[in-house]
Amino acid sequence: MIRKIDKRIGILTAGGDCPGINAAIRGVAKTAILEYGMNIVGISNGYTGLINKEYFDIQESDISGILTLGGTILGTSREKPFKKGILQNEINKPKLIKDHYHHAKLDGLVCIGGNGTMRTAALLAQEGMNIIGIPKTIDNDVWGTDVTFGFDSAVNIATEAIDRLHTTANSHKRIMIIEVMGHHAGWIALYSGVAGGGDIILLPEIPFDEKIICKYLDHRAQIKKAYSIVVVAEGIDKPKKVKAGDYIAKMISDNLDYETRVTVLGYLQRGGTPSPTDRILATRYGAHAVDLIAEENFGQMVCILNNKTASIDLSEVQDKTRLIPEEHSLIKKARRIGTCFGDLMP
Ligand code: F6P
Repeated sequence: MIRKIDKRIGILTAGGDCPGINAAIRGVAKTAILEYGMNIVGISNGYTGLINKEYFDIQESDISGILTLGGTILGTSREKPFKKGILQNEINKPKLIKDHYHHAKLDGLVCIGGNGTMRTAALLAQEGMNIIGIPKTIDNDVWGTDVTFGFDSAVNIATEAIDRLHTTANSHKRIMIIEVMGHHAGWIALYSGVAGGGDIILLPEIPFDEKIICKYLDHRAQIKKAYSIVVVAEGIDKPKKVKAGDYIAKMISDNLDYETRVTVLGYLQRGGTPSPTDRILATRYGAHAVDLIAEENFGQMVCILNNKTASIDLSEVQDKTRLIPEEHSLIKKARRIGTCFGDLMP
């Protein structure tokens, strides 16, 4: 039985894409249409779609079959409408967004994205628009939630890559470096590094000492460990234009005489079908977002806290990044099994 709530809801997806976005769009749209009888409007290419008046009605049939699909059927962009700049001053983008939100006769807007998207969402909420945020990113660094969808899929992909590097590293007795995504936070490196049995894991959150890294790699060779795997987050401390993996490889080859190879996993981490965990998480987020709209509890980001669906004020999330705490239990456990984080000899 439909509990008819007469509302017209916009959905947009902004920032870098990740597996699970379509599952979240489906979660929002199906709950809104089937449970509440709401109307859904898809906005193209993130906030750009509201600036350029690119939106269209979505029927339930339009979102059939998208649960397993990677990317986003709505398109995305990294448009930051509140960013000040010479050209930006010429057009008042926040005003256009508000005007077109009213033109589309929206009663609410669901913004699916990462930190940048949540910042814009918070500012739009402060301008009086009815906003709900849904956190997504492979980086898992959105403040205010225990987990974002996209992360589990990325960890699966990175772990499989590390598994494959083990066999080739062993055959050639090499040091294999794998660079994974994560500019500010090293969640992918930590989880895939532990899951894939990385010998050294380098995170933006833990300053490393090159002498420790080389000493540990040399020690492994001395005790007849045939090869070593080094998992590096792209955001480690290094000179600006150099890639993290290359930087570590050069550091090793300047000091040691072992064959070293670098693999940069790149956008493979963001593409393709979402893992079952991400499909479920995105569906939970989507349904909860619509419940908040039905209650008219706007200005919130849906979140997971201790495996329970909840929500947090967007103003609390704004301008924060969820980094790995130094004392994270997985770091402590990994240290106990001999994993080196570049700061201490195991
Ligand atoms: O979505 C987050 C992220 O994947 C980062 O880890 C990465 O550095 C960044 O996006 C790069 O994305 P783009 O090239 O699309 O800006």
